[in-house]
Amino acid sequence: MNTNLSSSAPAELETDCLVAVVLDHGEKDHGEKDKPAPEVASSDAALRQAAQEVIASGEVTGKAFETTLVHHPANLKAKRLLLLGGGKSKTFSASDLRKLAGAAVRTLKGKSIRSFAFVVPETAVAVQDGVRAIVEGAFVGEFEPGYYKSDRKNNDPKIDAVTIVAQGDAKLLQSALDTGRIVAESQNFTRDLVNEPSNRMTPSVLAERARKMASEVGLGCEVLGTDKIKELKMGAFWGVAQGSDEPPALIVLRYNPAGAPANIHLGLVGKGITFDTGGISIKPADGMEKMKYDMAGGATMIGAMRAIALLKPKVKVTAIILATENMPSGKAQKPGDVQFAMSGKSIEIINTDAEGRLVLADGLCYARQLGCTHLVDAATLTGAVVVALGYVNAGIFASDDQMYDRFAQAMKQAGEKMWRLPLDDEYKELLKSTIADMTNAGSRWGGAIFAAMFLKEFAEDTPWIHLDIAGTAWMEDQKPWIAKGPSGIALRSLVEFVKSWAA
Ligand code: BES
Ligand code: MN
Ligand code: ZN
Repeated sequence: MNTNLSSSAPAELETDCLVAVVLDHGEKDHGEKDKPAPEVASSDAALRQAAQEVIASGEVTGKAFETTLVHHPANLKAKRLLLLGGGKSKTFSASDLRKLAGAAVRTLKGKSIRSFAFVVPETAVAVQDGVRAIVEGAFVGEFEPGYYKSDRKNNDPKIDAVTIVAQGDAKLLQSALDTGRIVAESQNFTRDLVNEPSNRMTPSVLAERARKMASEVGLGCEVLGTDKIKELKMGAFWGVAQGSDEPPALIVLRYNPAGAPANIHLGLVGKGITFDTGGISIKPADGMEKMKYDMAGGATMIGAMRAIALLKPKVKVTAIILATENMPSGKAQKPGDVQFAMSGKSIEIINTDAEGRLVLADGLCYARQLGCTHLVDAATLTGAVVVALGYVNAGIFASDDQMYDRFAQAMKQAGEKMWRLPLDDEYKELLKSTIADMTNAGSRWGGAIFAAMFLKEFAEDTPWIHLDIAGTAWMEDQKPWIAKGPSGIALRSLVEFVKSWAA
């Protein structure tokens, strides 16, 4: 998809479709009786005039994701005008705009329209933030998961070009566009990895994809195999990997720019279970096919590193991805087994399906050994976080309030939703084992917190954030702005978070 900026007047643009946002200026909120007061979010007289007739007809309300297509709009050079409802003007945000751009892409490509021009709405959202949000939303909306459909070529119409119509400092706007494009393409890179089925995305393939990306964008990349994993005494990681015929991969991506602060080294640790059967504590057949996305945390870190390498913030970052299958076999670990983690702590394996925390335990320990001063992990870690927060918010845990505040700021900028869950000392009780230092699984209650408390034992005193993306890494249904399938959640927040540390 080509992206470019234009500062022309909307009326002068020769395009297949001009897209303009309509906001509802009605005062009252949902539920209350209120007459909508729809208005095009632009001061351009010709554009407002062109929309006037259909708005006056009462057909347009400005409700979020409402689409109205006008052919041969009066006095515009565009062939069509798409009026896109943006909801209440009072609360309109960059996050809404990102979704609208995705909805524009998905609506228009469904009509075989190949290019369009999106007029940045005049709202409280700063114009450069608007440009960035539109680019991001457009790329996110473009992704389709039907990789292996025979008729994909015919059924997967693409948008070739998007023009963003904005007035302002050209250099500033171009840089906003470039940033948005890098971040969104990286998000789609992650979604691409997650979308692949486990027979085509083994730990070795994931490692190869990371290596190829790293060489393209200039990151350091090292892939450690079985021998090295054993040599490092990663007994928790190996305990999971030992049951599979596919060799595991410990993927390390390094970004170390000149001029970075000497005392900051960010560590991004990702769960890369390319398929989670549960192991000997095997999962029920129903829905097991979805466990191909159990490497989403790892894929998110790989995608984030791509964006970081291209955006070049001055801060040192290392990503560690623990890639393996979780399989039952004659070699698989069994409930009751005791494993020694890299840190030296012993773990009683109560449930082999609680494997994510095991691989992350060694990943966090390794990140500390490499000198990371701040850790963030991302993982499709627990079904319990889906029970707690559903498909809307990811779970976020933080051992350090300052670090949390910084991440929350990044989340807000990225337009991603995560809800903080607690790590009180009282929960530590649950980790007790009769035979070892801790168990890997406890009671049903507070399952997402248990998993986080387990990880905390391995982050130790290093400030650490844990993202449980089990409910949010996969869209259960399509939305106007995004396809069903891998979402790429957390990548944008991670990139903003990393940038916030730059010298
Ligand atoms: N990969 C799963 C968690 C998961 C569940 C991800 C649903 C995405 C959707 C994880 O490895 C797991 O199996 N967790 C168990 C832990 C339990 C055995 C303590 C769970 O949540 O049931
Ligand atoms: Mn599991
Ligand atoms: Zn898992």
